[in-house]
Amino acid sequence: MSKEFKRYTVTSALPYANGPVHVGHLAGVYVPADIYVRYLRMKGRDVIFIGGSDEHGVPITIKAREAGITPKQIVDRYHTMIRDAFSEFGISFDIYSRTSNAMHHQTSSAFFEKLYREGKFIEKTSDQFYDTEAGQFLADRYITGTCPRCGNERAYGDQCEACGSSLSPEELIQPRSTLSGSAPVLKTTRHWYLPLQEYEPWLREWILEGHKNDWRANVYGQCKSWIDQGLQPRAVTRDLDWGVKVPVEGAEGKVLYVWFDAPIGYISATRELTDNWETYWKDPESRLIHFIGKDNIVFHCIIFPAMLKAEGSYILPDNVPSNEFLNLEGEKISTSRNWAVWLHEYLQEFPGKQDVLRYVLTANAPETKDNDFTWKDFQARNNNELLAILGNLVNRTVVLTHKFFGGVVPEVTELTEDDRLLLGQLEDFPGKIAENIEHFRFREGLNQMMNLARLGNKYLTDQEPWKKIKTDEERVKTILNLSLQVCASLTLVSAPFLPFTSQSMHRLLNISENRWDDAGNQSLLKPGTVLGDPVFLFEKIEDDAIQFQIDKLEKTRQQNLQPKAAIPLEPAREPVNYDDFLKMDIRTATILAAEAVPKTQKLLKLTVDTGLDTRTIVSGIAEYFKPEEIIGKKVAVLVNLEPRQLRGITSNGMILMAQNPDGTLFFVTPEGADVVSGATIR
Ligand code: 2FM
Ligand code: ZN
Repeated sequence: MSKEFKRYTVTSALPYANGPVHVGHLAGVYVPADIYVRYLRMKGRDVIFIGGSDEHGVPITIKAREAGITPKQIVDRYHTMIRDAFSEFGISFDIYSRTSNAMHHQTSSAFFEKLYREGKFIEKTSDQFYDTEAGQFLADRYITGTCPRCGNERAYGDQCEACGSSLSPEELIQPRSTLSGSAPVLKTTRHWYLPLQEYEPWLREWILEGHKNDWRANVYGQCKSWIDQGLQPRAVTRDLDWGVKVPVEGAEGKVLYVWFDAPIGYISATRELTDNWETYWKDPESRLIHFIGKDNIVFHCIIFPAMLKAEGSYILPDNVPSNEFLNLEGEKISTSRNWAVWLHEYLQEFPGKQDVLRYVLTANAPETKDNDFTWKDFQARNNNELLAILGNLVNRTVVLTHKFFGGVVPEVTELTEDDRLLLGQLEDFPGKIAENIEHFRFREGLNQMMNLARLGNKYLTDQEPWKKIKTDEERVKTILNLSLQVCASLTLVSAPFLPFTSQSMHRLLNISENRWDDAGNQSLLKPGTVLGDPVFLFEKIEDDAIQFQIDKLEKTRQQNLQPKAAIPLEPAREPVNYDDFLKMDIRTATILAAEAVPKTQKLLKLTVDTGLDTRTIVSGIAEYFKPEEIIGKKVAVLVNLEPRQLRGITSNGMILMAQNPDGTLFFVTPEGADVVSGATIR
């Protein structure tokens, strides 16, 4: 048996509040974490279960720009959505907080400040891309350009999604800022770094020696490979205006790196939950456990522990049971490709069936390798396991008790060898299940729970009370009593895995106990207890419900096959007020003459009748239009743009053009035959 701790601090990765959660998140993090804490509570242990939204980071600012709203509006929307979905799904957080709140800003800021004051950071200047038009340093995701490896013109500053290479922004050919479209320049900036290399000897000892046998092989292996590759200083600040402000003089326009502040979110949430927060984070008799997905391992096993160690007063994670990934119908789950089963949609489409999904995700949990979620498997596990094994045992037992004994739990009379065997096993099961849960083997724990139900079914089938009732009512009393004891034990041991079903069983069997240690009790259900009316714990899931889901995914697959536009739509720009808009004098005009500007490929020199005057405008449209094609064309012109010199020609105004995502270019043309040149556009 594992060491008993005085209390447990259980955290689950804070999901980014820029999209809903899906079955991959649930299987990887939240379902196992919830099983663990529900079990600990039933054992009477002192446990807190921390969750919340991770509301900072560049992807949130990009999503907000694309939607034309503020980052705060994005996180408000998704935080609420995620929190409500978790709650309906029965993830039993003690608190579901968020990193945009004041407590978190204060906690993470103070954490940084302490490390800063104690000289735990190093300061470095480096050159980073800067958008002079937007007046902003560019995070990697804000830079696109041509991939040096495969030529994809839409590679990001950190990655090319076409060939999968990781890139750094300087490697991109013809980098562009996604904010303004302009070419970024390198500019010097200063940041704070956590010198991880200084923690290497300690990390080796703590993880590679200290947790060799108790951390999962995948977690240990990833840590070892990181440490063996040599750790580097890690920047913990960013030039960005969304996040926790760096609490240091001269750090205007800088925020904490999202992976610095997010894990501190666990601490902030605990402070929000209880005044006693320090015992959960600082007392060595508290056991800190982080439930995370495998893409979070380095942050929770190396970087956050190094931060905690640097701070000095905190305990370290005792285990980090990270899962592998769950795929969907054989393909990687992808938010951007909408290849996912979304929790909020599941809850709508399968109302009241939370436990079915919890069961399937646990039975199929990607604990040691990636696994696959398929809708056929979902259906089969509901129909052939939950319904046919667990539901069937409980239903048969309760129906027979009603039929033969008016729904009242009968007495045990005399025990046979078979009965003793059953009771012996009944006593052992809770311990076996517990042992698995305590060691984060939830899949096997669930399997054992179902084995108890299988045992109950076999006993009932072998004993045939429906036949014996005609000749030996006393014997049937014992058989049903023992079968009911199995159901009672299942009511308790199923609770961490299937909390909704367990509640129905509590009502059905009229059981008030909910301590784990009562589950092995051979007479948990007292003779004379009146049972509720028989109900079905599970219902059959029909083919059409499954086909609906498969069709939905097929539709997504087809949509994903459609060719993608070559150029992304530009994100919406900052709002302007009406007066600013009115400053722009845009008129209808007519192109009178056009000729190529010598020695250029892109420029045409146009003579334009603006109604007010006839003027020269140089326009970068030569690659799209031949001069003779556009003479006589009605266009829209910004007439009060300051004159500019282009190749020695004074260009006076700008012709307005529209560009499709695939790159094709159009004139913005006033409609109607009788529109005159010089009409104001507004
Ligand atoms: O990977 C993610 O979704 C991150 N938002 C997890 C953060 S966990 C913790 F550090 F907050
Ligand atoms: Zn590439």
